[in-house]
Amino acid sequence: MSLKPPRKFFEPLAIGAPAPWRDLPVVLERMIHFFPPHNEKLRARIPEMIGTVDVLLGNLEDAIPSDAKIDARQGFIATAKACDFGRTGLWTRVNCLNSPWFLDDVMDIVGSVGNKLDVIMLPKVEGPWDIHYLDQLLAQLEARHEIAQPILIHAILETALGVANIEAIAAASPRMHGISLGPADLAASRGMKTTRVGGGHPAYGILEDPRADQGSRQFFQQDLWHYTVAKMVDACRAHGIKAFYGPFGDFSDDLACEAQFRNAFLLGCVGAWSLHPKQIDIAKRVFSPDAEEVRFARRILEAMPDGSGAVMLDGKMQDDATWKQAKVIVDLARQVADRDPAMAALYGF
Ligand code: GLV
Ligand code: MG
Repeated sequence: MSLKPPRKFFEPLAIGAPAPWRDLPVVLERMIHFFPPHNEKLRARIPEMIGTVDVLLGNLEDAIPSDAKIDARQGFIATAKACDFGRTGLWTRVNCLNSPWFLDDVMDIVGSVGNKLDVIMLPKVEGPWDIHYLDQLLAQLEARHEIAQPILIHAILETALGVANIEAIAAASPRMHGISLGPADLAASRGMKTTRVGGGHPAYGILEDPRADQGSRQFFQQDLWHYTVAKMVDACRAHGIKAFYGPFGDFSDDLACEAQFRNAFLLGCVGAWSLHPKQIDIAKRVFSPDAEEVRFARRILEAMPDGSGAVMLDGKMQDDATWKQAKVIVDLARQVADRDPAMAALYGF
């Protein structure tokens, strides 16, 4: 038997650890804003960012120099202790499992601020075995440090093997919160011929068929990440967890960032990472449903109060399936409105 029996699945993995979540907490996570906790200047800005972003994540992994790893860990702990995060999520991205830092990252952070930490982002996840290891370790630490609520695990999808095992990763534990696409590491792992952090490539696309008039043929750039994002969304939604687009590294091209985020949103992702403050507003705009769309979705719900039958609205057929789509949009809009009075007014709630 390779899967745990249902009754075992929700048992705590250590005596004294809190019972696993049966449903994920309902929270808005349009942007996961990364900060480098070894940088005193940027760390000092965290208190004023609380409430302006949905999630604050102290990054300990890539982009933190080897000689600053311990300062980053300690800086994260100090920030977590000093601030009241209110409804803003507090996450950390720990170093990967085979690094010299992972064990102390998890032990020190859970031991010091485990009651404030919502989610641990685990990089370079290759299979369910990686999740099982962190799952067990977290249960032991939660028991030892009397942590009241289970700390969730968010996996980064950034190796070819991880993509091959994505279903099993999503299903590995009730601690699974979601999965983010990590296009930079994934590109390297797959042997893609790019040097970017997410986004498209001008040479990846299709050429229009030859024209009868011998005119010049148009080239249409395609989304390099379409397949992976769609596969990730299906795996996540099938297992009741959330899918996220990850980083967009070209800070000089906000339009391309917005287009990439929007593709992910339309395909089913609920958020993306913000690595630069200007990406916070991009993510807020993209991952909050469009006001026009919300108005139309509300009309669908109102036209079909019990969600059944078929009606025509503006020449478009509506039935049970469009009612369900409308509900996805209206439910999300309500969550956004609950956080943001300006959006509530825009949506007319
Ligand atoms: C993120 O970690 C990435 O590798 O893209
Ligand atoms: Mg990475």
